[in-house]
Amino acid sequence: STGEKVDENSKKRQLEQFQEEPKDQYMTTDQGVRISHTDDSLKAGFRGPTLMEDFHFREKMTHLDHESIPERVVHARGSGAHGYFQVYEPQTHLTKAQFLQDPSVKTPVFVRFSTVVGSRGSADTVRDVRGFATKFYTQEGNYDLVGNNMPVFFIQDSIKFPDLVHAIKPMPDNEMPQASAAHDTFWDFASLMPETAHMLMWVLSDRAVPRSFRMMEGFGVHTFRLVNAEGKGTFVKFHWKPLLGVHSLVWDEAQKLAGKDPDWLRRDLWEAIEMGDYVEFELGIQAIPEEDEHSFAFDILDATKLIPEELVPVKRIGKMTLNRNPDNFFAETEQVAFHPGNVVPGIDFTNDPLLQGRLFSYVDTQINRFSSANFTEVPINRPVVPVHNQHGAGFMRQTISKGKVNYFPNSLGGGYPKMASEQEGGYVHYTEKVEGHKVRERSKSFKDYFSQATLFWNSMSAGEKKRIVQALHFELGKVDSKEVRMRMVNEILNNINHELATMVAEGIGVEAPSGAIVSKVKDAAGSIKDKVAHSL
Ligand code: HEM
Repeated sequence: STGEKVDENSKKRQLEQFQEEPKDQYMTTDQGVRISHTDDSLKAGFRGPTLMEDFHFREKMTHLDHESIPERVVHARGSGAHGYFQVYEPQTHLTKAQFLQDPSVKTPVFVRFSTVVGSRGSADTVRDVRGFATKFYTQEGNYDLVGNNMPVFFIQDSIKFPDLVHAIKPMPDNEMPQASAAHDTFWDFASLMPETAHMLMWVLSDRAVPRSFRMMEGFGVHTFRLVNAEGKGTFVKFHWKPLLGVHSLVWDEAQKLAGKDPDWLRRDLWEAIEMGDYVEFELGIQAIPEEDEHSFAFDILDATKLIPEELVPVKRIGKMTLNRNPDNFFAETEQVAFHPGNVVPGIDFTNDPLLQGRLFSYVDTQINRFSSANFTEVPINRPVVPVHNQHGAGFMRQTISKGKVNYFPNSLGGGYPKMASEQEGGYVHYTEKVEGHKVRERSKSFKDYFSQATLFWNSMSAGEKKRIVQALHFELGKVDSKEVRMRMVNEILNNINHELATMVAEGIGVEAPSGAIVSKVKDAAGSIKDKVAHSL
Protein backbone atom coordinates (compact mmCIF):
# COMPACT_ATOMS: atom_id res chain seq x y z
CA SER A 1 0.00 0.00 0.00
CA THR A 2 1.11 3.57 -0.57
CA GLY A 3 -0.28 4.51 2.82
CA GLU A 4 -2.68 6.96 1.17
CA LYS A 5 -6.17 7.12 2.60
CA VAL A 6 -8.72 6.42 -0.09
CA ASP A 7 -12.37 6.94 0.76
CA GLU A 8 -15.64 6.86 -1.14
CA ASN A 9 -15.29 10.51 -2.20
CA SER A 10 -11.58 10.55 -3.13
CA LYS A 11 -12.30 10.53 -6.84
CA LYS A 12 -15.09 13.09 -6.52
CA ARG A 13 -12.78 15.51 -4.68
CA GLN A 14 -10.06 14.98 -7.28
CA LEU A 15 -12.45 15.67 -10.17
CA GLU A 16 -13.76 18.81 -8.44
CA GLN A 17 -10.34 20.42 -8.80
CA PHE A 18 -10.86 20.35 -12.56
CA GLN A 19 -14.46 21.50 -12.63
CA GLU A 20 -15.71 24.92 -13.63
CA GLU A 21 -19.21 26.31 -13.59
CA PRO A 22 -19.67 29.41 -15.75
CA LYS A 23 -22.79 30.57 -13.88
CA ASP A 24 -22.71 34.33 -13.06
CA GLN A 25 -19.17 34.64 -14.37
CA TYR A 26 -17.94 36.81 -17.22
CA MET A 27 -17.39 34.86 -20.41
CA THR A 28 -13.71 34.94 -21.31
CA THR A 29 -11.40 33.73 -24.05
CA ASP A 30 -9.14 30.77 -23.32
CA GLN A 31 -6.58 33.37 -22.34
CA GLY A 32 -8.89 34.78 -19.67
CA VAL A 33 -9.75 38.00 -21.51
CA ARG A 34 -13.38 39.10 -20.90
CA ILE A 35 -15.64 39.05 -23.93
CA SER A 36 -17.94 41.96 -24.68
CA HIS A 37 -19.99 40.53 -27.58
CA THR A 38 -20.41 37.02 -28.94
CA ASP A 39 -23.22 37.39 -31.48
CA ASP A 40 -21.47 39.13 -34.36
CA SER A 41 -18.11 38.57 -35.96
CA LEU A 42 -15.78 41.51 -36.43
CA LYS A 43 -16.32 42.94 -39.92
CA ALA A 44 -14.88 45.64 -42.11
CA GLY A 45 -18.07 47.64 -42.55
CA PHE A 46 -21.61 46.47 -41.75
CA ARG A 47 -21.80 44.40 -44.94
CA GLY A 48 -18.08 43.77 -45.27
CA PRO A 49 -15.85 40.69 -44.87
CA THR A 50 -14.97 39.16 -41.52
CA LEU A 51 -11.57 40.14 -40.24
CA MET A 52 -8.79 37.68 -39.54
CA GLU A 53 -7.93 39.54 -36.35
CA ASP A 54 -11.22 38.50 -34.72
CA PHE A 55 -9.54 36.24 -32.17
CA HIS A 56 -12.82 35.52 -30.39
CA PHE A 57 -14.46 34.28 -33.61
CA ARG A 58 -11.43 32.16 -34.52
CA GLU A 59 -11.15 30.61 -31.09
CA LYS A 60 -14.87 29.83 -30.84
CA MET A 61 -14.93 28.20 -34.27
CA THR A 62 -11.69 26.31 -33.77
CA HIS A 63 -13.04 24.69 -30.64
CA LEU A 64 -16.16 23.49 -32.41
CA ASP A 65 -14.09 22.22 -35.32
CA HIS A 66 -12.04 20.08 -32.95
CA GLU A 67 -14.74 18.88 -30.58
CA SER A 68 -14.67 15.27 -31.67
CA ILE A 69 -12.12 12.56 -31.14
CA PRO A 70 -12.20 9.15 -32.84
CA GLU A 71 -14.94 7.03 -31.32
CA ARG A 72 -13.90 3.71 -29.84
CA VAL A 73 -13.31 1.11 -32.56
CA VAL A 74 -15.68 -1.16 -30.62
CA HIS A 75 -17.98 -0.29 -27.69
CA ALA A 76 -18.38 3.22 -29.14
CA ARG A 77 -21.75 3.87 -27.52
CA GLY A 78 -21.68 3.89 -23.75
CA SER A 79 -23.11 5.30 -20.52
CA GLY A 80 -21.14 5.97 -17.37
CA ALA A 81 -21.78 6.25 -13.64
CA HIS A 82 -19.78 6.89 -10.48
CA GLY A 83 -20.04 4.93 -7.28
CA TYR A 84 -18.11 2.89 -4.79
CA PHE A 85 -17.21 -0.69 -3.99
CA GLN A 86 -17.06 -2.39 -0.59
CA VAL A 87 -15.80 -5.88 0.15
CA TYR A 88 -17.88 -7.98 2.59
CA GLU A 89 -15.02 -9.87 4.25
CA PRO A 90 -11.22 -9.80 3.95
CA GLN A 91 -10.06 -11.95 1.03
CA THR A 92 -6.56 -12.27 2.51
CA HIS A 93 -6.41 -16.03 1.88
CA LEU A 94 -6.77 -15.41 -1.87
CA THR A 95 -5.29 -12.01 -2.63
CA LYS A 96 -3.21 -9.25 -1.17
CA ALA A 97 -5.17 -6.60 -3.14
CA GLN A 98 -5.88 -3.91 -0.55
CA PHE A 99 -9.34 -3.01 -1.81
CA LEU A 100 -10.41 -6.60 -1.13
CA GLN A 101 -9.36 -6.59 2.55
CA ASP A 102 -11.14 -4.06 4.71
CA PRO A 103 -14.97 -4.02 4.70
CA SER A 104 -14.97 -0.45 6.06
CA VAL A 105 -13.14 0.91 2.99
CA LYS A 106 -15.28 2.33 0.20
CA THR A 107 -13.24 2.31 -3.01
CA PRO A 108 -14.45 4.83 -5.61
CA VAL A 109 -15.40 3.35 -9.00
CA PHE A 110 -16.43 4.56 -12.43
CA VAL A 111 -18.42 2.16 -14.61
CA ARG A 112 -19.10 2.37 -18.34
CA PHE A 113 -21.79 0.18 -19.89
CA SER A 114 -21.82 -0.09 -23.67
CA THR A 115 -23.02 -1.79 -26.79
CA VAL A 116 -20.26 -3.26 -28.95
CA VAL A 117 -21.03 -2.89 -32.63
CA GLY A 118 -22.93 0.35 -33.21
CA SER A 119 -21.43 3.80 -33.58
CA ARG A 120 -21.73 6.49 -30.89
CA GLY A 121 -25.17 7.57 -32.11
CA SER A 122 -26.71 4.13 -32.60
CA ALA A 123 -29.72 2.70 -30.77
CA ASP A 124 -29.44 1.10 -27.34
CA THR A 125 -31.76 -1.88 -27.67
CA VAL A 126 -30.18 -3.75 -30.57
CA ARG A 127 -29.23 -7.43 -30.31
CA ASP A 128 -25.62 -7.19 -29.16
CA VAL A 129 -23.18 -7.98 -26.38
CA ARG A 130 -23.05 -5.29 -23.67
CA GLY A 131 -19.78 -4.03 -22.21
CA PHE A 132 -19.49 -3.70 -18.43
CA ALA A 133 -16.20 -1.97 -17.59
CA THR A 134 -15.30 -0.93 -14.05
CA LYS A 135 -12.41 1.25 -12.92
CA PHE A 136 -11.59 0.86 -9.23
CA TYR A 137 -9.59 3.86 -7.95
CA THR A 138 -7.81 1.90 -5.21
CA GLN A 139 -5.15 3.03 -2.75
CA GLU A 140 -2.66 0.96 -4.74
CA GLY A 141 -3.54 2.47 -8.10
CA ASN A 142 -6.23 1.83 -10.69
CA TYR A 143 -7.63 -1.64 -11.24
CA ASP A 144 -9.84 -2.13 -14.33
CA LEU A 145 -12.23 -5.05 -14.64
CA VAL A 146 -13.15 -4.77 -18.33
CA GLY A 147 -15.99 -7.24 -18.77
CA ASN A 148 -19.06 -8.04 -20.82
CA ASN A 149 -22.59 -9.17 -19.96
CA MET A 150 -21.87 -12.66 -21.32
CA PRO A 151 -19.42 -15.09 -19.73
CA VAL A 152 -17.68 -16.27 -22.90
CA PHE A 153 -16.34 -14.78 -26.11
CA PHE A 154 -16.53 -15.44 -29.86
CA ILE A 155 -12.93 -16.40 -30.41
CA GLN A 156 -10.09 -18.12 -28.57
CA ASP A 157 -7.06 -16.28 -29.88
CA SER A 158 -6.77 -12.51 -30.07
CA ILE A 159 -5.20 -12.67 -33.53
CA LYS A 160 -8.76 -13.36 -34.80
CA PHE A 161 -10.14 -10.18 -33.18
CA PRO A 162 -9.54 -7.89 -36.20
CA ASP A 163 -11.35 -10.46 -38.38
CA LEU A 164 -14.25 -10.71 -35.93
CA VAL A 165 -14.58 -6.92 -35.74
CA HIS A 166 -14.44 -6.49 -39.51
CA ALA A 167 -17.12 -9.18 -39.87
CA ILE A 168 -19.43 -7.66 -37.30
CA LYS A 169 -18.99 -3.98 -38.20
CA PRO A 170 -20.89 -2.45 -41.15
CA MET A 171 -19.85 -3.42 -44.66
CA PRO A 172 -16.72 -1.69 -45.96
CA ASP A 173 -18.43 -0.41 -49.15
CA ASN A 174 -21.75 1.05 -47.93
CA GLU A 175 -21.39 1.06 -44.12
CA MET A 176 -24.57 -0.98 -43.61
CA PRO A 177 -26.06 -2.40 -41.51
CA GLN A 178 -25.36 0.01 -38.68
CA ALA A 179 -25.78 -1.94 -35.48
CA SER A 180 -27.25 -5.31 -36.03
CA ALA A 181 -26.12 -8.87 -36.00
CA ALA A 182 -28.47 -9.40 -38.97
CA HIS A 183 -25.53 -9.22 -41.22
CA ASP A 184 -24.21 -11.43 -44.03
CA THR A 185 -20.58 -10.89 -43.11
CA PHE A 186 -21.07 -11.74 -39.45
CA TRP A 187 -22.93 -14.97 -40.18
CA ASP A 188 -20.44 -15.87 -42.89
CA PHE A 189 -17.60 -15.52 -40.37
CA ALA A 190 -19.52 -17.36 -37.63
CA SER A 191 -20.39 -20.24 -39.95
CA LEU A 192 -16.72 -20.67 -40.86
CA MET A 193 -15.48 -20.39 -37.26
CA PRO A 194 -17.03 -23.13 -35.14
CA GLU A 195 -15.34 -21.80 -32.00
CA THR A 196 -18.02 -19.05 -32.05
CA ALA A 197 -20.79 -21.62 -31.38
CA HIS A 198 -21.09 -21.17 -27.63
CA MET A 199 -21.04 -17.35 -27.76
CA LEU A 200 -23.58 -17.42 -30.60
CA MET A 201 -26.06 -19.12 -28.28
CA TRP A 202 -25.68 -16.31 -25.74
CA VAL A 203 -25.99 -13.65 -28.45
CA LEU A 204 -29.16 -15.24 -29.79
CA SER A 205 -30.66 -15.54 -26.32
CA ASP A 206 -32.58 -13.00 -24.25
CA ARG A 207 -29.27 -11.89 -22.71
CA ALA A 208 -28.52 -9.89 -25.86
CA VAL A 209 -31.51 -7.58 -25.31
CA PRO A 210 -31.24 -6.51 -21.65
CA ARG A 211 -34.16 -4.62 -20.16
CA SER A 212 -31.74 -2.31 -18.34
CA PHE A 213 -28.03 -1.92 -17.64
CA ARG A 214 -29.13 -2.30 -14.01
CA MET A 215 -30.54 -5.75 -14.73
CA MET A 216 -27.73 -7.60 -16.43
CA GLU A 217 -24.84 -9.67 -15.17
CA GLY A 218 -21.20 -8.85 -15.83
CA PHE A 219 -18.31 -11.23 -16.42
CA GLY A 220 -14.54 -10.82 -16.55
CA VAL A 221 -14.69 -13.70 -19.08
CA HIS A 222 -11.04 -14.77 -18.85
CA THR A 223 -9.59 -16.82 -16.05
CA PHE A 224 -7.48 -14.36 -14.06
CA ARG A 225 -5.19 -15.05 -11.12
CA LEU A 226 -5.36 -13.86 -7.53
CA VAL A 227 -2.11 -13.85 -5.56
CA ASN A 228 -1.92 -13.68 -1.76
CA ALA A 229 0.85 -12.25 0.44
CA GLU A 230 2.59 -15.64 0.56
CA GLY A 231 2.81 -15.61 -3.23
CA LYS A 232 0.21 -18.36 -3.64
CA GLY A 233 -1.83 -18.07 -6.81
CA THR A 234 -5.48 -19.03 -7.31
CA PHE A 235 -7.33 -18.96 -10.63
CA VAL A 236 -10.41 -16.77 -10.60
CA LYS A 237 -13.41 -15.87 -12.74
CA PHE A 238 -15.08 -12.55 -11.93
CA HIS A 239 -18.85 -12.02 -11.97
CA TRP A 240 -21.15 -9.07 -11.34
CA LYS A 241 -24.62 -10.02 -10.06
CA PRO A 242 -27.32 -7.32 -10.31
CA LEU A 243 -29.41 -7.05 -7.14
CA LEU A 244 -32.45 -6.30 -9.31
CA GLY A 245 -32.05 -9.68 -11.02
CA VAL A 246 -31.55 -10.38 -14.72
CA HIS A 247 -34.30 -9.12 -17.03
CA SER A 248 -34.60 -8.84 -20.78
CA LEU A 249 -36.77 -7.19 -23.38
CA VAL A 250 -38.60 -9.30 -25.91
CA TRP A 251 -37.53 -8.75 -29.50
CA ASP A 252 -40.67 -6.87 -30.47
CA GLU A 253 -40.14 -4.40 -27.60
CA ALA A 254 -36.46 -4.04 -28.46
CA GLN A 255 -37.21 -3.20 -32.08
CA LYS A 256 -39.94 -0.69 -31.24
CA LEU A 257 -37.82 0.99 -28.57
CA ALA A 258 -34.91 1.33 -30.99
CA GLY A 259 -37.19 3.64 -32.97
CA LYS A 260 -39.18 5.33 -30.23
CA ASP A 261 -36.39 5.85 -27.72
CA PRO A 262 -32.92 4.97 -28.99
CA ASP A 263 -31.58 6.14 -25.60
CA TRP A 264 -33.65 3.59 -23.68
CA LEU A 265 -30.81 2.01 -21.67
CA ARG A 266 -28.93 5.25 -21.21
CA ARG A 267 -32.05 7.06 -19.99
CA ASP A 268 -33.00 4.23 -17.63
CA LEU A 269 -29.59 4.31 -15.92
CA TRP A 270 -29.45 8.09 -15.72
CA GLU A 271 -32.97 8.51 -14.36
CA ALA A 272 -32.62 5.75 -11.78
CA ILE A 273 -29.53 7.45 -10.34
CA GLU A 274 -31.10 10.94 -10.52
CA MET A 275 -34.09 9.63 -8.55
CA GLY A 276 -31.85 8.13 -5.88
CA ASP A 277 -32.68 4.61 -6.98
CA TYR A 278 -29.03 3.57 -6.78
CA VAL A 279 -27.70 0.72 -8.84
CA GLU A 280 -26.24 -2.26 -7.02
CA PHE A 281 -24.16 -5.19 -8.20
CA GLU A 282 -22.49 -7.83 -6.08
CA LEU A 283 -18.98 -8.91 -7.07
CA GLY A 284 -18.77 -12.69 -7.28
CA ILE A 285 -15.78 -14.94 -7.74
CA GLN A 286 -15.25 -18.53 -8.76
CA ALA A 287 -11.92 -19.52 -7.21
CA ILE A 288 -10.08 -22.54 -8.63
CA PRO A 289 -6.97 -23.90 -6.87
CA GLU A 290 -3.94 -24.07 -9.15
CA GLU A 291 -3.78 -27.84 -8.61
CA ASP A 292 -7.11 -28.10 -10.44
CA GLU A 293 -5.92 -26.33 -13.59
CA HIS A 294 -6.28 -29.52 -15.65
CA SER A 295 -9.26 -31.05 -13.84
CA PHE A 296 -11.85 -29.81 -16.30
CA ALA A 297 -13.09 -31.30 -19.54
CA PHE A 298 -12.11 -28.03 -21.20
CA ASP A 299 -9.17 -25.69 -20.85
CA ILE A 300 -9.69 -22.90 -18.32
CA LEU A 301 -7.51 -20.69 -20.53
CA ASP A 302 -10.10 -20.96 -23.32
CA ALA A 303 -12.37 -17.88 -23.28
CA THR A 304 -15.12 -19.69 -25.21
CA LYS A 305 -15.79 -21.82 -22.12
CA LEU A 306 -17.35 -20.97 -18.79
CA ILE A 307 -16.86 -22.83 -15.56
CA PRO A 308 -20.32 -24.13 -14.65
CA GLU A 309 -21.55 -22.58 -11.40
CA GLU A 310 -22.76 -26.02 -10.29
CA LEU A 311 -19.13 -27.15 -10.22
CA VAL A 312 -17.54 -24.06 -8.79
CA PRO A 313 -20.13 -21.93 -7.02
CA VAL A 314 -19.95 -18.17 -7.30
CA LYS A 315 -19.11 -16.64 -3.97
CA ARG A 316 -20.32 -13.06 -3.53
CA ILE A 317 -17.52 -11.08 -1.92
CA GLY A 318 -18.57 -7.45 -2.13
CA LYS A 319 -20.99 -4.88 -3.45
CA MET A 320 -20.78 -1.97 -5.85
CA THR A 321 -23.21 0.92 -5.61
CA LEU A 322 -23.55 3.41 -8.47
CA ASN A 323 -24.91 6.62 -7.00
CA ARG A 324 -23.76 9.59 -9.09
CA ASN A 325 -24.17 10.57 -12.71
CA PRO A 326 -21.24 12.14 -14.55
CA ASP A 327 -21.15 15.95 -14.79
CA ASN A 328 -19.89 15.96 -18.35
CA PHE A 329 -20.37 13.16 -20.86
CA PHE A 330 -17.28 13.89 -22.90
CA ALA A 331 -14.89 14.58 -20.02
CA GLU A 332 -15.88 11.44 -18.16
CA THR A 333 -17.79 8.80 -20.14
CA GLU A 334 -16.09 9.44 -23.48
CA GLN A 335 -12.57 10.05 -22.20
CA VAL A 336 -12.44 7.20 -19.73
CA ALA A 337 -9.88 4.64 -20.88
CA PHE A 338 -10.15 1.10 -19.55
CA HIS A 339 -7.48 -1.52 -19.98
CA PRO A 340 -7.45 -5.15 -18.79
CA GLY A 341 -3.73 -4.65 -18.13
CA ASN A 342 -4.43 -2.14 -15.33
CA VAL A 343 -3.98 -4.42 -12.33
CA VAL A 344 -2.90 -3.92 -8.72
CA PRO A 345 -0.74 -6.18 -6.54
CA GLY A 346 -2.69 -9.37 -5.78
CA ILE A 347 -4.34 -9.59 -9.23
CA ASP A 348 -2.48 -11.09 -12.16
CA PHE A 349 -2.98 -12.52 -15.64
CA THR A 350 -3.03 -16.00 -17.10
CA ASN A 351 -1.86 -17.31 -20.46
CA ASP A 352 -5.34 -17.13 -22.03
CA PRO A 353 -4.37 -16.16 -25.61
CA LEU A 354 -7.36 -13.85 -25.90
CA LEU A 355 -6.42 -11.99 -22.73
CA GLN A 356 -2.77 -11.77 -23.78
CA GLY A 357 -3.76 -9.97 -27.00
CA ARG A 358 -6.10 -7.61 -25.17
CA LEU A 359 -3.15 -6.55 -23.04
CA PHE A 360 -1.63 -5.06 -26.18
CA SER A 361 -4.74 -3.71 -27.88
CA TYR A 362 -6.31 -1.29 -25.40
CA VAL A 363 -3.47 1.18 -24.88
CA ASP A 364 -2.61 0.96 -28.57
CA THR A 365 -6.13 2.01 -29.57
CA GLN A 366 -6.28 4.66 -26.85
CA ILE A 367 -3.18 6.32 -28.25
CA ASN A 368 -5.15 6.53 -31.49
CA ARG A 369 -8.17 7.94 -29.65
CA PHE A 370 -6.22 10.57 -27.71
CA SER A 371 -3.28 11.13 -30.10
CA SER A 372 -1.01 10.74 -27.11
CA ALA A 373 0.10 8.36 -24.40
CA ASN A 374 -0.71 11.11 -21.90
CA PHE A 375 -4.43 10.21 -21.76
CA THR A 376 -3.65 8.78 -18.32
CA GLU A 377 -3.46 12.38 -17.09
CA VAL A 378 -7.04 13.17 -18.14
CA PRO A 379 -8.93 13.68 -14.83
CA ILE A 380 -11.25 10.65 -15.14
CA ASN A 381 -8.26 8.37 -15.79
CA ARG A 382 -6.00 9.61 -13.00
CA PRO A 383 -5.53 7.34 -10.03
CA VAL A 384 -6.39 8.92 -6.65
CA VAL A 385 -2.89 8.11 -5.40
CA PRO A 386 0.24 10.02 -6.45
CA VAL A 387 1.94 9.22 -9.75
CA HIS A 388 5.72 9.58 -9.98
CA ASN A 389 7.75 8.36 -12.91
CA GLN A 390 10.16 9.52 -15.54
CA HIS A 391 7.83 9.51 -18.53
CA GLY A 392 8.02 12.96 -19.87
CA ALA A 393 7.27 14.75 -23.04
CA GLY A 394 4.48 14.09 -25.54
CA PHE A 395 1.24 15.70 -26.68
CA MET A 396 -0.71 17.35 -23.86
CA ARG A 397 1.62 16.50 -21.02
CA GLN A 398 0.10 18.16 -17.92
CA THR A 399 2.48 17.33 -15.11
CA ILE A 400 5.46 19.59 -14.60
CA SER A 401 8.12 17.19 -13.34
CA LYS A 402 10.67 18.98 -11.23
CA GLY A 403 13.29 16.24 -11.07
CA LYS A 404 16.67 17.41 -12.39
CA VAL A 405 17.25 14.12 -14.18
CA ASN A 406 14.82 11.70 -15.83
CA TYR A 407 16.65 8.41 -16.05
CA PHE A 408 17.17 5.53 -13.68
CA PRO A 409 19.47 4.85 -11.92
CA ASN A 410 20.94 8.26 -11.25
CA SER A 411 23.05 9.88 -8.60
CA LEU A 412 22.23 13.47 -9.52
CA GLY A 413 18.51 13.66 -8.83
CA GLY A 414 18.39 13.09 -5.09
CA GLY A 415 17.43 9.42 -5.41
CA TYR A 416 14.06 10.18 -6.94
CA PRO A 417 11.95 8.16 -7.67
CA LYS A 418 12.74 4.95 -5.80
CA MET A 419 11.67 1.34 -6.20
CA ALA A 420 9.11 -0.23 -3.87
CA SER A 421 9.74 -3.66 -2.43
CA GLU A 422 6.89 -6.13 -2.50
CA GLN A 423 6.20 -5.28 1.16
CA GLU A 424 6.05 -1.62 0.25
CA GLY A 425 3.41 -2.33 -2.37
CA GLY A 426 5.67 -2.85 -5.40
CA TYR A 427 3.93 -4.90 -8.12
CA VAL A 428 5.72 -8.22 -8.55
CA HIS A 429 4.58 -10.45 -11.40
CA TYR A 430 3.54 -13.96 -10.47
CA THR A 431 6.45 -16.31 -11.02
CA GLU A 432 4.75 -18.83 -13.24
CA LYS A 433 7.01 -21.36 -14.90
CA VAL A 434 6.67 -21.21 -18.69
CA GLU A 435 8.49 -23.44 -21.12
CA GLY A 436 7.88 -24.46 -24.70
CA HIS A 437 8.66 -24.30 -28.38
CA LYS A 438 7.66 -21.26 -30.39
CA VAL A 439 4.58 -22.43 -32.26
CA ARG A 440 1.81 -20.74 -34.21
CA GLU A 441 -0.71 -23.35 -33.21
CA ARG A 442 -3.60 -23.72 -30.84
CA SER A 443 -3.58 -26.11 -27.92
CA LYS A 444 -5.55 -29.30 -28.60
CA SER A 445 -7.34 -28.66 -25.32
CA PHE A 446 -9.16 -25.79 -27.10
CA LYS A 447 -10.66 -28.01 -29.78
CA ASP A 448 -14.10 -28.81 -28.38
CA TYR A 449 -16.34 -26.10 -29.81
CA PHE A 450 -19.80 -27.47 -29.24
CA SER A 451 -20.26 -29.15 -25.85
CA GLN A 452 -20.98 -25.99 -23.89
CA ALA A 453 -23.17 -24.60 -26.68
CA THR A 454 -25.22 -27.79 -26.38
CA LEU A 455 -25.32 -27.47 -22.58
CA PHE A 456 -26.58 -23.91 -23.01
CA TRP A 457 -29.33 -24.99 -25.40
CA ASN A 458 -30.36 -27.89 -23.15
CA SER A 459 -30.58 -25.58 -20.13
CA MET A 460 -33.12 -23.29 -21.81
CA SER A 461 -36.83 -23.35 -20.98
CA ALA A 462 -39.31 -23.96 -23.79
CA GLY A 463 -39.99 -20.21 -24.09
CA GLU A 464 -36.31 -19.37 -24.24
CA LYS A 465 -35.72 -22.03 -26.90
CA LYS A 466 -38.55 -20.61 -28.95
CA ARG A 467 -37.07 -17.13 -28.80
CA ILE A 468 -33.61 -18.42 -29.84
CA VAL A 469 -35.17 -20.08 -32.88
CA GLN A 470 -37.08 -16.88 -33.68
CA ALA A 471 -33.88 -14.87 -33.33
CA LEU A 472 -32.14 -17.21 -35.78
CA HIS A 473 -35.05 -16.94 -38.21
CA PHE A 474 -34.80 -13.16 -38.03
CA GLU A 475 -31.00 -13.02 -38.29
CA LEU A 476 -30.33 -15.76 -40.84
CA GLY A 477 -33.49 -14.91 -42.75
CA LYS A 478 -31.79 -11.67 -43.76
CA VAL A 479 -28.66 -13.39 -45.07
CA ASP A 480 -28.65 -13.33 -48.87
CA SER A 481 -26.17 -16.15 -49.35
CA LYS A 482 -27.88 -19.54 -49.22
CA GLU A 483 -24.46 -21.10 -48.79
CA VAL A 484 -23.95 -19.20 -45.53
CA ARG A 485 -27.42 -20.13 -44.27
CA MET A 486 -26.78 -23.80 -45.09
CA ARG A 487 -23.40 -23.76 -43.43
CA MET A 488 -24.89 -22.21 -40.28
CA VAL A 489 -27.50 -24.97 -40.15
CA ASN A 490 -25.27 -27.91 -41.02
CA GLU A 491 -21.87 -27.00 -39.63
CA ILE A 492 -22.83 -25.03 -36.54
CA LEU A 493 -26.42 -25.54 -35.36
CA ASN A 494 -26.61 -29.25 -36.17
CA ASN A 495 -23.46 -29.75 -34.11
CA ILE A 496 -25.16 -28.01 -31.21
CA ASN A 497 -28.56 -29.70 -31.40
CA HIS A 498 -30.35 -31.47 -34.23
CA GLU A 499 -33.81 -30.27 -33.26
CA LEU A 500 -32.55 -26.68 -33.15
CA ALA A 501 -30.98 -27.03 -36.61
CA THR A 502 -34.18 -28.53 -38.01
CA MET A 503 -36.42 -25.81 -36.59
CA VAL A 504 -34.13 -23.07 -37.90
CA ALA A 505 -33.78 -24.65 -41.35
CA GLU A 506 -37.54 -24.67 -41.79
CA GLY A 507 -37.79 -20.91 -41.30
CA ILE A 508 -34.95 -19.82 -43.57
CA GLY A 509 -35.52 -21.75 -46.77
CA VAL A 510 -32.83 -24.39 -46.46
CA GLU A 511 -33.13 -28.13 -46.25
CA ALA A 512 -33.15 -29.60 -42.76
CA PRO A 513 -30.05 -31.66 -41.97
CA SER A 514 -30.71 -35.35 -42.48
CA GLY A 515 -29.32 -36.68 -39.25
CA ALA A 516 -28.07 -35.71 -35.87
CA ILE A 517 -24.33 -35.35 -35.51
CA VAL A 518 -23.11 -37.76 -32.91
CA SER A 519 -21.82 -35.52 -30.20
CA LYS A 520 -18.06 -35.50 -30.56
CA VAL A 521 -17.36 -34.70 -26.98
CA LYS A 522 -19.09 -35.81 -23.84
CA ASP A 523 -21.06 -33.48 -21.68
CA ALA A 524 -18.48 -30.88 -20.71
CA ALA A 525 -19.41 -31.23 -17.07
CA GLY A 526 -19.14 -35.02 -17.16
CA SER A 527 -15.52 -35.63 -16.49
CA ILE A 528 -14.81 -32.98 -13.97
CA LYS A 529 -13.35 -34.27 -10.78
CA ASP A 530 -15.23 -33.71 -7.58
CA LYS A 531 -12.38 -31.99 -5.87
CA VAL A 532 -12.92 -28.85 -7.95
CA ALA A 533 -16.13 -28.16 -6.17
CA HIS A 534 -14.33 -27.55 -2.88
CA SER A 535 -15.33 -24.15 -1.74
CA LEU A 536 -12.38 -21.87 -1.16
C1 HEM B 1 -13.32 -1.93 -25.65
C2 HEM B 1 -10.16 -4.68 -27.99
C3 HEM B 1 -12.14 -8.66 -26.18
C4 HEM B 1 -14.67 -5.86 -23.22
C5 HEM B 1 -12.35 -2.34 -26.50
C6 HEM B 1 -11.60 -1.48 -27.34
C7 HEM B 1 -10.71 -2.26 -28.00
C8 HEM B 1 -10.90 -3.61 -27.58
C9 HEM B 1 -9.67 -1.81 -29.02
C10 HEM B 1 -11.77 0.03 -27.44
C11 HEM B 1 -11.07 0.63 -26.26
C12 HEM B 1 -10.96 2.13 -26.28
O1 HEM B 1 -10.99 2.76 -27.35
O2 HEM B 1 -10.79 2.70 -25.17
C13 HEM B 1 -10.40 -5.99 -27.66
C14 HEM B 1 -9.63 -7.12 -28.14
C15 HEM B 1 -10.22 -8.24 -27.66
C16 HEM B 1 -11.33 -7.81 -26.86
C17 HEM B 1 -8.39 -7.04 -28.99
C18 HEM B 1 -9.85 -9.68 -27.85
C19 HEM B 1 -8.76 -10.06 -28.41
C20 HEM B 1 -12.96 -8.26 -25.19
C21 HEM B 1 -13.56 -9.12 -24.23
C22 HEM B 1 -14.25 -8.33 -23.39
C23 HEM B 1 -14.11 -6.96 -23.82
C24 HEM B 1 -13.37 -10.64 -24.15
C25 HEM B 1 -15.02 -8.72 -22.19
C26 HEM B 1 -14.51 -9.52 -21.28
C27 HEM B 1 -14.54 -4.58 -23.64
C28 HEM B 1 -15.25 -3.46 -23.08
C29 HEM B 1 -14.87 -2.33 -23.78
C30 HEM B 1 -13.92 -2.77 -24.76
C31 HEM B 1 -16.24 -3.50 -21.92
C32 HEM B 1 -15.40 -0.93 -23.60
C33 HEM B 1 -14.62 -0.20 -22.55
C34 HEM B 1 -15.23 1.17 -22.34
O3 HEM B 1 -16.40 1.22 -21.89
O4 HEM B 1 -14.56 2.16 -22.62
N1 HEM B 1 -11.91 -3.64 -26.67
N2 HEM B 1 -11.42 -6.44 -26.89
N3 HEM B 1 -13.31 -6.95 -24.91
N4 HEM B 1 -13.74 -4.13 -24.64
FE1 HEM B 1 -12.57 -5.28 -25.74
